[in-house]
Amino acid sequence: MAVPLAESLQALVLSTLDSSSSGSIDDSRELQSSDGSKLGPGEAQAVLKGVLDSLLSREMIVYKQITTTSFALTEEGLDIAAKGSHEYRVWEALPAKGGVALSMPDLKKVVGDDVAKIGQMRAFKNKWIAKDGAGFVRAVDAVPDETAAQLQTIRDTGSHPQGDVVLKEVQKRKLIQPRKHIHYSVKKGANFSTEVKQLETDLTEDMLVSGSWQDASFKQYNFAAAGQPTDGGALHPLLKVREEFRQIFFDLGFTEMPTNRFVESAFWNFDAMFVPQQHPAREMQDTFYVKEPSRSTRPDEEYYERVRKVHEEGGYGSIGYRAPFSREESEKLLLRTHTTAVSTDMLYQIANQPGGFKPAKLFSIDRVFRNESTDATHLAEFHQVEGVVADYDITLGHLIAFMEEFFRKTGNTKLRFKPAYNPYTEPSMEVFSWHEGLGKWIEIANSGVFRPEMLEPMGLPKGVRVLGWGMSLERPTMIKYKISDIRTLVGHKTDLDMVRRRPAVRLEKGD
Ligand code: PHE
Repeated sequence: MAVPLAESLQALVLSTLDSSSSGSIDDSRELQSSDGSKLGPGEAQAVLKGVLDSLLSREMIVYKQITTTSFALTEEGLDIAAKGSHEYRVWEALPAKGGVALSMPDLKKVVGDDVAKIGQMRAFKNKWIAKDGAGFVRAVDAVPDETAAQLQTIRDTGSHPQGDVVLKEVQKRKLIQPRKHIHYSVKKGANFSTEVKQLETDLTEDMLVSGSWQDASFKQYNFAAAGQPTDGGALHPLLKVREEFRQIFFDLGFTEMPTNRFVESAFWNFDAMFVPQQHPAREMQDTFYVKEPSRSTRPDEEYYERVRKVHEEGGYGSIGYRAPFSREESEKLLLRTHTTAVSTDMLYQIANQPGGFKPAKLFSIDRVFRNESTDATHLAEFHQVEGVVADYDITLGHLIAFMEEFFRKTGNTKLRFKPAYNPYTEPSMEVFSWHEGLGKWIEIANSGVFRPEMLEPMGLPKGVRVLGWGMSLERPTMIKYKISDIRTLVGHKTDLDMVRRRPAVRLEKGD
């Protein structure tokens, strides 16, 4: 029968069950329609499954799935079933004993290369053929071509009466392939009826009032149904890229600094770093100052005095700025303009820890604030990625090597370094990376060797050098996710759906 519609199939299942003396259908392939045709295997059984599930949910039937395997011949199997096995074809092509022997090249001409090669070997093993001079002749008068006979049976019935003994052997020779088939056995269920009632999905007030609920049939709850997707949290792209950078730092043996304070004193953000109190970056139009509270707590007095002195008078081989240094300026509170403020505090702590200085590799990735007008590539707040290395006798060469290793892991393999200026590092370098996609060098980081005027007042031993580099987290994130306007990444114009949809990120090579 042609694949029937679900409705007619449903009616057929119910009427067959109704009229069957056992109240069951043992093999759904045998389901017979009024014109006498059978449902058969394959697609019809798939349609039937839908019908059975629906009847099952109404408890009108119960059913079992039965899986059977049959075998189909491969192309080679079909060939053998039709024309005989290779060994048979070789035997057949040869003359009887005493005839003119057929040479291998001639045999190949008659039965083909492959059949000649394989068939000759097997025919020999079976002692069906014998050598005669340079050629071959038959060794027996008749041979049983069992393989061909077996394959014919499998071709016609899907199996073989001898079962596995035969099937396994021909399957090993890749002459047959198993096929799985599914059919069903069906029985009447508790609510069996030949009519399918409309099921109620809700118990309503009307039903209760009228009493119609007593005769109504209710649809079962489907506890296996997939629910509505819930709105879970999602990591912002910046956080995904931050996690990648963190792992790179961890891989390189760095420890994470505690950066959980956005408000800093001007002392840690600027003074301790030997940024002159007259530096333009300190102006209100560049830095956000905090109104309330307006004064920070004081750092250690002796340390503060050493910092004041190096600014105003010099020391440690420096002539200082020779400009007034005010306590009021130092105690201003501000939103940190760089995470280097935290690195500075950490260096001070390392210099003064119990047991004295020990070499350290530190990193941080966190938010900083600058009073800037915003555009497609600038916001008043962004994230800095910063690495700091403190050890005896390290040099600019080490800094370059650290950055090459670090940036290689982020996929930036072609780097260039350009001399630059920072008040707190000397020498300082801007780092450029070749961007394959954009076809140009783009600036990716700022770096340098921290000045003795910054380090020595902290009490760090004389031979200790400290290297550092810093960069934004937004820049690589925008490149990675191909975002051209930073305002769509951070801030009120950010599309939350975008945040949800963005895939995880890997900073692999060639990015
Ligand atoms: N603080 C620098 C910046 O804001 C980055 C930097 C860190 C430079 C460490 C040198 C050493 O760009």
